[in-house]
Amino acid sequence: MYFKETKGFPKDFLWGSASAAYQVEGGWDADGKGVTNWDKFVRIPGKTFKATTGDKAVDHYHRFKEDVKLMADMGLKTYRFSIAWARIYPNGNGEINEAGLSFYDDLINELIKYGIEPMVTVYHWDMPQALEEEYHGWENRRIVDDYVNYATTLFKRYGDRVKYWITMNEQNIFTSFGWLKGMHPPGKENDMKTFYQVNHHANMAHAGAVLALKELYPDAKVGASFAYSPCYAFDRKPENAMAKADYDDLQNYWWMDIYAYGRYPRSAWAYLETMGVTPDIQDGDMETLRKAAALVNFMGVNYYQTCVAEYNPIDGVGMSNAMNTTGKKGTAQVQGVPGLYKNPANDFLPTTDWDWTIDPMGLRMCCRDITSRYDLPIVISENGLGAFDKVEDGQVHDPYRIAYLKAHIEELKKACDDGCQVLAYCTWSYTDLLSWLNGYQKRYGFVYVDREEDENYGTLNRIPKDSYYWYQKVIETNGEEL
Ligand code: BG6
Repeated sequence: MYFKETKGFPKDFLWGSASAAYQVEGGWDADGKGVTNWDKFVRIPGKTFKATTGDKAVDHYHRFKEDVKLMADMGLKTYRFSIAWARIYPNGNGEINEAGLSFYDDLINELIKYGIEPMVTVYHWDMPQALEEEYHGWENRRIVDDYVNYATTLFKRYGDRVKYWITMNEQNIFTSFGWLKGMHPPGKENDMKTFYQVNHHANMAHAGAVLALKELYPDAKVGASFAYSPCYAFDRKPENAMAKADYDDLQNYWWMDIYAYGRYPRSAWAYLETMGVTPDIQDGDMETLRKAAALVNFMGVNYYQTCVAEYNPIDGVGMSNAMNTTGKKGTAQVQGVPGLYKNPANDFLPTTDWDWTIDPMGLRMCCRDITSRYDLPIVISENGLGAFDKVEDGQVHDPYRIAYLKAHIEELKKACDDGCQVLAYCTWSYTDLLSWLNGYQKRYGFVYVDREEDENYGTLNRIPKDSYYWYQKVIETNGEEL
């Protein structure tokens, strides 16, 4: 749309940045923390780039005061971070670990001291390993109660200071990588039936947490963060437009319809029925999902890229785990679902060194689509560029990151003018951190951290990059100076 006048970002817009516990904290066995599924998974040979782990990560656990001070100097309005379940309940349930609870008390208080709004993700993929061993984690319905109990512990402890809560980070990613691609724990491949069952459990866990939070704090703001890749039809051929519709129902609306409406899209459900992979749903589940959906305050969106859908014949390409985790451009492979769609590259768009499509307008598309379909406010909970950064004379010049973020913020501004209610924009990430499968060389932060793949190399010193100072100005001018 074209507007004669533009309004730009609302006055109280939350300019933010994000992280996740496993990727920044380190202190993997500190102060009573239990072992997680990721602590185990990274030790399986060949699973992560150069066998990197989050054992030490960027040592945020011990350096959070320094990190928060840098945030304050930057003028950050919100910091999104996740809580490690195994710090709170080392075994996932049962005995509580006070030292873990007080670590996050300190972090939250430190943020509040500087006027930075804490935005808490309850679950960003690190599950206590004890639950895997006790009952196979997300595969068992028992996880719903354990997750809701854990989430409720957080709400009770921090709800007086934390207003923004994100129940789940990228349920679509951790479940597809965990049960279809074998690339995240528990490392299963092509197990469609379990994949959908796991998702139903995660949906019930999300819903239970929303209901529990609203009971305790009716004014709290809650949503889930979805990894949303809007999709373009390959061309004007009707079968490619249908491939896009199939992609949207199965890859996007399957999750977002649950969060916003508490229902599964009908055509996706019909497809699952023919494949014999529908999840078991208990009496009352759909009502619980609907009740929770009515209480959700925003759609969280992690936006990195768009994709293309082209019809994929029944003997066509399948799901592959051939991803580019090395940063050698051009090594990713086309994936798809036989009989429905495949996702070829988009010739109109550039890509990162890890073959991720760069499409700033896609961010506006996300907002427009969510606004039309759900009419919900939006929190952009992640957006950023993974790149190789270099220190030169004690500085890090990252004009490519500034260009990437600038272009995306420009499009977000247009989304605000389009009438979308965007509440926050969190870049990924604040400091450099561990990229789950891609090691430490894939850097996302405003703040460089001196460390290499091998944790014995590097001082862990922090160096603000050029993008740090650029974002400082963006915040100061509420997005007017980009
Ligand atoms: C999102 C996750 O998928 O993207 C983050 O929520 C992740 O945890 C980020 O780090 C970037 O992905 P990657 O694979 O480049 O680290």
